[in-house]
Amino acid sequence: MTATTTGWRELARRLADEIAAEGALRSPDWRAAVEATPRHVFVPVFHRQRPDGGWSTTTCGDEGWLDEVYRNQPLVTALARTHDGDQVTVSSSTKPGLMLRMLETLDVHDGHRVLEIGTGTGYNAALLAHRLGPDRVFSVDIDETLVESARARLAQLGPPPTLATAHGARGLPGHAPFDRIIATCSLPAVPWAWAGQLREGGLVLVDLKPSTHAGNLVLLTRHTDRLEGRFLPRWAAFMAIRDTDNPPDAALSPAAAPVAGHRSATRLDPTPWSCLVPWFLAQAELPGPVAFGHRGITGEGPQWAVFGTPDGSRAAVRVQPDPATGDRDVRQTGPVRLWDAVERAHRRWDDLGRPGWDRLGLTVTPDGHHRVWLDTPDGATGWDLTRHDAAGDR
Ligand SMILES: C[S@@+](CC[C@H](N)C(=O)[O-])C[C@H]1O[C@@H](n2cnc3c(N)ncnc32)[C@H](O)[C@@H]1O
Repeated sequence: MTATTTGWRELARRLADEIAAEGALRSPDWRAAVEATPRHVFVPVFHRQRPDGGWSTTTCGDEGWLDEVYRNQPLVTALARTHDGDQVTVSSSTKPGLMLRMLETLDVHDGHRVLEIGTGTGYNAALLAHRLGPDRVFSVDIDETLVESARARLAQLGPPPTLATAHGARGLPGHAPFDRIIATCSLPAVPWAWAGQLREGGLVLVDLKPSTHAGNLVLLTRHTDRLEGRFLPRWAAFMAIRDTDNPPDAALSPAAAPVAGHRSATRLDPTPWSCLVPWFLAQAELPGPVAFGHRGITGEGPQWAVFGTPDGSRAAVRVQPDPATGDRDVRQTGPVRLWDAVERAHRRWDDLGRPGWDRLGLTVTPDGHHRVWLDTPDGATGWDLTRHDAAGDR
């Protein structure tokens, strides 16, 4: 331990207090894990995006590093360059408050074996190892460099959990069965492979996001013939699962806003995160994962919100309404009118009384079928989210 880190225990207690104050830390076992786990060992470096879009790096020993590491905040810990030369985030240390909210929700008990998807820094694996013992914790990441760093850090605290470089959608069959699976990256679909590695009655906690911002954390129970459960009432977002350890390419580009094509008007705000539940439910109406972006950025902000799907469908919606009418221009091209589909999903959600996440649940079956339901699994109201091209089919 260096002179700069001698005070970390007090900072870890402060972090536990901060997490408890937001209601995410309830049990003494998890509080003990936060207080005993040195986050600074797992985050020797973090990056912050500057207003000009570039990144600045803070390294252990820099002024403020230790204090920042023990704040209840996410920290970007790995960047990589895309083919276009842009720097993108490939790993981060999740906001501790969110991590603890998930760990509390996961309802682990002594003796449970837990698989984590997305090792990242190793901090969450360290919390799990403190709670359950390292021989009951398993964690995979697609990125070998991250796995090796995490293994070395975990080894500083004692015998490390089992770590592996692997595609998380496949789980870790050689070490199954597990009682719990927790994913700390988002997936477009829940892989049935996980069900095969879970004990009957076991739980999966995963951020299901078929498209950017479209989805939420869902807690599923393993039944013989299905995974089933409810979305968590509070929204959260993780970075998306990658297929390789290469940095993701810039999101499939919706390209320029269509200037020709079908024209109409809308009263809806086109920014997906302005209304998250109907944006998620709209995925059932859309022909594939939706790329979203802004075009025509001026001093007053972006002019157009643009949407694109892999089949070549494009929609552009003016961000600002016409001050006189309240309408926004809409342009749509390609095989599917994407914005019309979003509007239909909104209307249906309105007609249902605008249900929140707490009224939505999910059933996943071995054929990869994903059905979102309202209130009860066997009720009449549902949305078919099945996508056969999604990572979950692998
Ligand atoms: C938010 S970080 C995980 C944070 C981590 N649990 C921690 O405590 O630091 C998400 C991680 O998911 C990993 N990931 C992305 N695609 C993956 C895949 N296909 N399989 C396994 N891990 C993946 C990323 O490399 C990244 O490290």
